[in-house]
Parts: sequence; structure tokens; C-alpha cells
Amino acid sequence: MINKSATIIALTAILIVSSFFGITKLQNSINNTNNNDPIDEFTQNAGYYQLDFIESQLSDGSFSAILKWIPSPNEIELKTSPVIRDLRATFQVDANDECEFKITDLNNSRFHLPENEPYPYTKQRYSKKQKEFNLFETEISQVGQKFYFELRRKSTQEVIFSTKDYPIYFTDKYIEVSTQMKDSMIFGLGDRRTDFLLKSGKYSLWARDAADVDNGTPGKEIYGFHPMYLRRDIINNQFQVTLFRNYYGMQVDYEQNSHLTYKVIGGNIDFKFFIGDSNPETSIKLYHNYANGWILHPFWSSGFHQCRWGYQNSDMLMDVWDNFNKYGIPFDSLWTDIDYMYQYQDFTIDFERFNITQMQQIYNLSDSRGVHWSSIIDVGISLDSYAAQKGLDMNVFIKSAKTNDTLVGKVWPGETYFPDFNHPNSTEFWYEGLKNVSSFGIIQDGIWIDMNEYSNFVNGEIVPDQNKKTKPFLTSDLSSSLPFNPLGDQEIEYHTLSLDAYHYSGQDGILYNSTNGYIPTQYDLHNLDGFGEGIATYKAAQKLGKKLTFILSRSTTVGSGKYVQHWNGDGFSTWEYMKLSIPSIMNFNMYGIPFNGDDICGLMFNATAQICARWQQLGSLYPFARNHNNADASSQEPYVFVDHPYVLSSTIKTLNVRYQLLKFYYHLFVKANGVGTIFRPLFWSYPSDDNAYQYETQFMIGDYLMAAPVVEGGDEIKETTHSCVYIPKQAVFYSFYDYTEYQEGEHCYEVPFDSVLPLYIKSGKILHIQDKNKVLRSRFLDNRFSLLIALDQNNYAEGSMLTIDDYNNDENIISNCVEQQNCIVDIKAQGNMGEDNSSFTVDLRIQKEKINTNFQTVIIDKIVVIGIKVDGKSQSKTIFLEENPLIVDGGEIQLDLQFQI
Ligand code: GLC
Repeated sequence: MINKSATIIALTAILIVSSFFGITKLQNSINNTNNNDPIDEFTQNAGYYQLDFIESQLSDGSFSAILKWIPSPNEIELKTSPVIRDLRATFQVDANDECEFKITDLNNSRFHLPENEPYPYTKQRYSKKQKEFNLFETEISQVGQKFYFELRRKSTQEVIFSTKDYPIYFTDKYIEVSTQMKDSMIFGLGDRRTDFLLKSGKYSLWARDAADVDNGTPGKEIYGFHPMYLRRDIINNQFQVTLFRNYYGMQVDYEQNSHLTYKVIGGNIDFKFFIGDSNPETSIKLYHNYANGWILHPFWSSGFHQCRWGYQNSDMLMDVWDNFNKYGIPFDSLWTDIDYMYQYQDFTIDFERFNITQMQQIYNLSDSRGVHWSSIIDVGISLDSYAAQKGLDMNVFIKSAKTNDTLVGKVWPGETYFPDFNHPNSTEFWYEGLKNVSSFGIIQDGIWIDMNEYSNFVNGEIVPDQNKKTKPFLTSDLSSSLPFNPLGDQEIEYHTLSLDAYHYSGQDGILYNSTNGYIPTQYDLHNLDGFGEGIATYKAAQKLGKKLTFILSRSTTVGSGKYVQHWNGDGFSTWEYMKLSIPSIMNFNMYGIPFNGDDICGLMFNATAQICARWQQLGSLYPFARNHNNADASSQEPYVFVDHPYVLSSTIKTLNVRYQLLKFYYHLFVKANGVGTIFRPLFWSYPSDDNAYQYETQFMIGDYLMAAPVVEGGDEIKETTHSCVYIPKQAVFYSFYDYTEYQEGEHCYEVPFDSVLPLYIKSGKILHIQDKNKVLRSRFLDNRFSLLIALDQNNYAEGSMLTIDDYNNDENIISNCVEQQNCIVDIKAQGNMGEDNSSFTVDLRIQKEKINTNFQTVIIDKIVVIGIKVDGKSQSKTIFLEENPLIVDGGEIQLDLQFQI
């Protein structure tokens, strides 16, 4: 009896505690939206910063100035966040096209991340720094006046950044700064599922486990943290990138053609600007260079991947593998989700359900049917696991401010600890775990790191009560005392850790070296949780002997591309999610993680045959192509739709196209050399065509191919969809399949459900493809190529290709292509019509890109010349060279091809 009533009392207590917290939070969010909002009260009556004096000015245009707060007589300060009254504003010229503007506390140092690896930092690019070389100029207010700062592009006078007509507020936990945004289009601003061109709205930036679509409502952002945008000045057609180098939670209020306001809960005002030109790629490359570039993935990972949550045992894996083999569906990796673990515990395998002999058969790469093993590791460490014990011994977990003990949350295995990747022991801890996975007798080639926002199924943390019997979960006082919630009505600790949870503090911290005893908390580091795990995983993979690494991370931030690749996370099997996968991949190309994809056929809900067929077609050209499914959704492997055989047949056809293009696609990554984009919007190649900005689902692969995927439902009876492609002004494209010419304007047609992805070659480009032997695994692609020469109006075309013969040997790629950057040849073709209009010649030249290009043998045994104009019509000519192929193995090749037309 006594026990029972004690339990009842305890349960009531939990209810009271949790509803008490619920009410506080509700009040908080109501406060943020009505007129008694403390921020409104403060800002409506607040004073301003005056430019007190100029401390210094350099000949390159850099300056430092002191600002002083002039309070207003009826000012109502924020209770928990006093105004910082003395500030220093600095402008620094880093190069003629790179500069930074900062405002910091004059008297106290505030938490900020270092400007060196692994964080983005300015690379020394120019020694000569004089004002006249700058592409930009600045203006600031007069001494004694209200402070403002303006940055303009010198050549056009367009405003890049200006606080002129907007207030600046700098309080301890609420900072507000705005810029004018006239005549502009912007792209980027964080990880979210939305259109590529950003619409007016309030956008949160805060790493969060969610599958929402975000149309500008706070609290709808997803896993990553990327506070950068690419801006196009519409009048002058010029591009630039602005990075807000502040990692705290923030909300960005954007009003198209008016202004953009950052509202952030900590840190400093810290902007970095990259001044590009009329080609969007220019400023993006500067940005990637600043963010330390991105790494090259191993070649096999560019093949097709099959995954699902719900492959519960090795018999199921075997069944999928058998079916892929039986139906001849090309693929390179079969994944295991959390199912393979023992009770969802990291670094384990449940050998009862997963028979190691079966696994060794599937993942045996010396068998022609063998595929690579990619598998998941979640960040939460089960309290019951051996890894937890080890982690406690090594002291590597995040600590609770409430208990001063290891923080407890909850993920798939139940109660979990969370690694603190700031702790100097955490790298070793993580390595030990991954080493354990490598002891099972199969090799984990792809490492999938998930739930790393950090996702937590309770809000805040689980805190045992005194008798340790019941465990209420609690959010932190810090979160409820914040003057502003950047997530609007959504609690900031919703499904993540308490903001006051704390990390290692010391000079040897991995993410933050604390020299003054400062103890970093989740409030400071939350948006870097996934970044820290990515670095630890990368180091572990290297130590385990992997050369080119494939680490798929859900949470990312600025600079993550140096360590990991990415997929867009969870979504639904709907047309909307399928369509929005395209801008998300474009965003991650801008963010410097170009090897990116979305769950093909969608994760949640049951995929219909039509959606799955179209998604397979679209996904066949994602940089990273993986069909992935949820535990409780119906199966969606391409062969399961037996009543709709078009899913299987179109998947095979369209994946065959992927494999024809696989080496070409990979070469774009190699050639970019860690900076720049690969999967791009149409306007990237046609920035001055205003119409091109409206076709957000058409995408370019490099500057060569354009895809116009079908992303809408069609006629179920006729099994076809009416679809259109837009060809930009003055552009000419040719169908990849039959070389039909497409000129500017919109072209509409019927696309059968059973078809390949509509795909076009840009005129003026030379592709190299492998269209003769179909393979089911990327490692069986030979080194024989067909050149597709798509002539422009001057009968000219160009391209490039790699001069290596073994793409499966990482060391070969690293030594020839990555370290020395000399495994590329340029290919140029000039066509000429014969005088009698009946013959045509092509002068083909293949030249080293660099003087010291290394050569392994590459064979060209077919050439297709596309776009030969005969009587105003476009023709193509195929020349078979099997008997006498072109051997690219050194030196310059010059070939005159002459043929009758
Ligand atoms: C997360 C991942 C999803 C995975 C699931 C189970 O939701 O985003 O891809 O299948 O966890 O591990």
C-alpha cells in the first residue's frame, strides 16, 4: 500500500513539474508574439550606438572604431541580458575580393571560435593590399553620430551590406543587426527544405532533428547550421556571398527587396564577405576556400546504394542482394541501419540475427556480386553498453549542469550518454569504438553518422529524482531565461540537450581551447555537435587505414565538407519532398558538401509506384544516390512494385545511364579540387537570363549536362506525364539520348513512367561516357570511353577527363589527382564544314592540363559529333574507333577526323 501511494505521489509530482515547465515555455512563446514581448519593449524604447572615435585606419581601407551606447530616457533593458555599452567595430581587408566586419565587446572577451583549422579561416592570397585594388568600398557614419556601416561594390555602387537605416542592438544574449536588401535575390541561409530562391519569412538557424518543410516560419529548420547566403544583385547581375560567422542559435527575418535582420542569442557581430562577379561560382569558390574546401569521396560511393531501416536480419539483406543480382540492378552498397546492432548499441553487431557468414558473402568484394558495407553509428551511447563504461572511464561524455554528473538523454537504445567531442580523449574513444566494428570480419566502408544534432527523445535531459525510481526530464533554466527564442513557438531544447549541459574546458579542447577557464556549454556549442563527431569519425577512419573516406553525416556546419559527406535527412514519400530535394542538394553544394543526396523514394509514408519510379529517375543523377526507407513503411526496393513493372525497368535504364556517366561525374569532383559546386541550378550557367531563375527543378551537372526531371504526378492510365524543359536564352542543348537539338524557350512533351531521366548536353561541351558495356558494380567499369562532342554555334566544344586507369584504388587517386593535382587532360574540338557542304572535319586536341600531368592509359574508341548543321538542321555523326582507338597515355594528341555528311 505504502509503496503504491508513494508512486502515485511521485507521478503527480512529475506531472506538476512537467506542466509547470510547459506553462513557462508557453508563456515565453506567447510573450514573444504579443506586444509585451521583452524584445519589443526594449527595441521600441532603446537608445543607439554612437561612433565615438576612430582608433585606427590603414591604407588598404581597414579601420577600427569605438562605439558607445547612448541610452534613451525611457529605455527598458532586457532583464536577463544587459546592453553592452562599449563596443569596438572593425573592418578588415583580407584580399581585394574578401573582407570582414566585426563588432565586439570592448572590455570583455565573448565566446568566439578560433579562426584556424578546423574552422574556416582567411587564407593569405595576396601580398599587396592597397585600397585601389579592392573591389569594394565602405562608408561609416561621422564621429559623434549614430553608427552605421555600409559596404558597396566599387564598380556598380550596389550595396552589399548596409546597416544605415537599421538599429544595432548588442546585449549579452540578444544581438540584432540588419542589412539593406534592395534589388536582391538570396539563396542559402541554412539547412531547410524550401525553394532555392528564398522568399520573405522568418528563418531559424539551429541544428534540429526534424523533417519539416520551411516556408519562412520560425522553428522549421533542420539538421545543419549554415549561416551564409549567396546574393544576386538583380540590376547589375553580380553575385557575392555573406557569411555571418556566429554559431549561436538565431532567427533571420528576411523581407524580399527590403532588408534582412539577424536576431541571435549570443556571440559577436562577425561578418565575412566574398565579392564575386557575374558568375555565381566565383564567390562560392572563395567561400569554399575560406571554409577549408571539401574532400573527395571514394569512387565506389558514387554508385547506387540500397538501404532501409528494417533490414532486421541477414536473411533479409541476402534477399535484397539476391534480387538486385537477379534483376540486374546496378548497385555498389547495401546498407544496414540501426537494426544490425545489438539492442541498438553502437559498435556492436547482433550476431543472432546477423549471420556473419552471410554478411561475408554479401560484402565480399572479390566476388563479382559483392557490394560495399555501409552502416550506421548513432551518437548517443547506450548506458547499458560496454562503450558507455569505456567512455565513463575516459571521461568523454557531456555533463549535466543539474547533477554535475554525466548527462543522460534518450535515443533508440533507451537512455544514453552523449560524447563530448571537445574532450581530448574523445578522438581515441571514438576510434576504439569504430575499431571494434572493424573486428567483426566485414569492413565498414561507408560510415553513416546519424542523430548528431544531438537528437534526444526527451527535451533537455533525464534527471533521476532523489529516490532514483522515477526520472523526470527537465529543460534548463538557461533556455527559459533567454530573452529571445530564435525558434519562435518551438522550444529551443525540444528533442535536444539542455543548453546548460557543459563540455570539457581546457587548453587542449578539440573544438575550443579554453585559456581562461571558460566552460563551454551546449548553448555555445550545440550547432557544432555534428561537426565535432564528423571530425572524430574522419580521424578514426584514417587511423583505421581508410584512404578516401565516405562518412555520411546528418548534421553539418560551415567547414564540415573537409571531413564528411551529407544526405538531406528524413522526408516523406511525396511529390513535394521529392521536388524539394533538388534545392536542398543545390544548397549543400553552396555550403561546400557537394557529394549529397536525398532518400530516393522517400523515407516516411508508403511510396507509390509512380513516385518511386520518378524518384529513382531523378535520384539517378543525385551526386549521392541511395534508396532509403523507414521501418514502418512498405518496401520500396525497385523490384517490389510487381503490379507496376515500370518501376523496375525505368530504374535499371536510368541507373545504367548513371553508370555510363559515373567516371565523368567523378571527374567533375576531381577537377574542382575541393572547391566549387557540381550539382547546380540552371541559372548558374545562365545567370543573366532572368527566366532561368524560375526553373528550380532543372539542374546542371557541372556546366555540361542539364536534367529536367519529372517531379509531378501524371496520367495513371496512360502511364505518362506531361512535362516541360526550359532552354535558357541563346542556349542550345542536345538530348543526351538521341541528340535532338533544343533551342531557347520551353519545350513540352510526354514522359512515360517507364523512362529515363530527361537529360540534355549543353552545346560547346565534350562529355566522356562509357556506353558500351553495362556493369552492375562501379569497380567493373573499364577505361574505354566514348566522346560526345556537342558543338556550339562556332562548331567548337571542350571538356576534360582524368588520366588514371584505376578509379578503385584510392591511393592511385590520392597520389595522382589529389596531392599532385595532375591527372587531367583538356579536350578541345573545332569542327569545320567542307567547302562543298558534304564533308565535315573535326580537329580534336587532347592536351595535358599541367606540365607534369601523370599518365595511365585511357582509351577512346568512339566519337560522336553532335550539332553538325546541315541545311539549318542539326545532325550527328558517330565514328567507331574500336579497331584503331585513341590511346591517351602521354604527350599531345591531335587528330583530324573527316567524314561525309
Ligand atoms: C534517423 C535517420 C534515418 C534512419 C533512422 C533510424 O531518422 O535520419 O535515416 O533510418 O534514424 O536509424
